[in-house]
Amino acid sequence: MPESTALEQYLTDHRQQFEDDLCELLRIPSVSADRNYAGDIRRAADWVAARLRRLGLATQVVETGGHPLVYAESPPVPGAPTVLVYGHYDVQPADPLDQWTSPPFEPTVRDGNLYARGATDDKGQLLTHINSAQAWIETAGRLPLQLKFLIEGEEEVGSESLNKFLEQAADQLACDVVVVSDTAQFAPGQPAITYGLRGIAYFELRLTGPQHDLHSGTFGGGVTNPANALARMLAALVDDDGRVQVPGFYDDVVPLTDRERAQFAALAFDERAFLQRIGADAATGEAGYTTLERRWARPTCDVNGIWGGYQGQGGKTVLPSTAGAKFSFRLVPRQDPRRVAAGLRELFTRICPPGIRMELIEMHGAPGALVSLDSPYMQAAARAIERGFEQKPVFIREGGSIPIVTAFYERLGADTLLLGWGLDDDNAHGPNEKFSLTDFHRGIRASTYLWQELVGRGV
Ligand code: BES
Ligand code: ZN
Repeated sequence: MPESTALEQYLTDHRQQFEDDLCELLRIPSVSADRNYAGDIRRAADWVAARLRRLGLATQVVETGGHPLVYAESPPVPGAPTVLVYGHYDVQPADPLDQWTSPPFEPTVRDGNLYARGATDDKGQLLTHINSAQAWIETAGRLPLQLKFLIEGEEEVGSESLNKFLEQAADQLACDVVVVSDTAQFAPGQPAITYGLRGIAYFELRLTGPQHDLHSGTFGGGVTNPANALARMLAALVDDDGRVQVPGFYDDVVPLTDRERAQFAALAFDERAFLQRIGADAATGEAGYTTLERRWARPTCDVNGIWGGYQGQGGKTVLPSTAGAKFSFRLVPRQDPRRVAAGLRELFTRICPPGIRMELIEMHGAPGALVSLDSPYMQAAARAIERGFEQKPVFIREGGSIPIVTAFYERLGADTLLLGWGLDDDNAHGPNEKFSLTDFHRGIRASTYLWQELVGRGV
């Protein structure tokens, strides 16, 4: 029996097992941002390690100052490349809980989709590669190339521990190419290879005015209200044309080329359907750019959370003592998060009004990434995706960030293949996150062929 038939049969026979496995992992609430979930983070790391050990791979849970990393490798295969598979077992907080149709950590299937926090980002996607490795090991007895799995628990909070680990473990992690499935297809059934990610610079701003809350009639107008000050300072970040006002912000931005603009414009992007899916009635952003350009290849600023003053029922005439916000900039390649932080501090120091004490906390930052489209591995990945999805992939950029991708290039000298099986409307980070089970299985299939195509001997 030809190898590919045996592999196909194996994948068909194990669909249920793969789904059951994924549900098990999804039941562990491994929220990295919240210390209360530290025990669950560890359970998730142990679960992933056990899953890899079950394949006979040499596996270790690596302790870090933060959340543990899971590392596993199969034996080297002479003459074949070594591939580092990266993924993350941590998830974003599940709130707002009351907007979930089924509870976030009780995976539930509806209309062919599996609903749970982490379904697409990234537990479902990362398991596609573990499952494909299992298919090879249990049908052919071994993988056609060496795989090194590196699964971390801090992707959603900036990958600090992994960054440190990379500095000391470059030899252990040596590889020819990195494979990551933590992005999306261009549209349902239209797979994509992502060649660009935005970077990020994340901040918290805390403002304090009077020592305690005051009557806004007695004191309003006489002292600075921190909530007013916050609104003014945040509003100063972006002008009416959608241009970020941090000094030096655009200095290192590489302009979009006409060629790339034409390539974006040639993609079948339906703006009306896009707006309808997210329930917004207008597309807005930096003047002079299309929606895809704004989302994928232009830097931005968004407030992620804001607080201060009275939030309860009815009105309360109060002048709050404190106010604050969490906000972040998405960066394009070449922009340096540290330079953005310096420029931001300069701007806020200048405009922070009298009577307000300001604390600006730099939470995390990562540069954007661009991957060369010319690598032979890119072509191999495109062939594998075509076999798995029965559709040729398109080449796209993404607005989101995967902080470690640039470090892989800098520390390991390896390019990253961003092969995403998700969808834009999977509600990653939002309520009712989902992953299409069809895409889960197509992803496993594409991954199964990927190992073969990367060796350069497709059947
Ligand atoms: N899977 C996403 C990255 C992503 C987002 C890819 C959107 C494609 C489209 C990843 O898990 C993620 O959310 N990363 C964070 C990183 C940040 C917290 C440092 C992000 O982009 O917000
Ligand atoms: Zn995410």
